[in-house]
Amino acid sequence: MRRPTSADPDRAGSAGGHPCSIAAYPDGPYLVRGEFELLDEDGHSMGLRRQTIALCRCGRTRRAPFCDGTHKIGSFTTSPSTGSPDDA
Ligand code: FES
Repeated sequence: MRRPTSADPDRAGSAGGHPCSIAAYPDGPYLVRGEFELLDEDGHSMGLRRQTIALCRCGRTRRAPFCDGTHKIGSFTTSPSTGSPDDA
């Protein structure tokens, strides 16, 4: 039996009735909440059991892809917003 992945259309955006959301934290990480599966670059599950994680978007973390709080040191800012891909 094939193991379902987050790339499956049936799982995209939700699993088990708990929708997944990704929210940009002001001047900080992306907060991923809900049920999801995080895959590495080879498509293998990273085995996370949490329902909330913070993904770095400043590029300074030492625990990639996760936020380690380093964004608080220095001048990382998300203002002004970069907008949505639809704005391009
Ligand atoms: S966003 Fe927190 S370390 Fe990069």
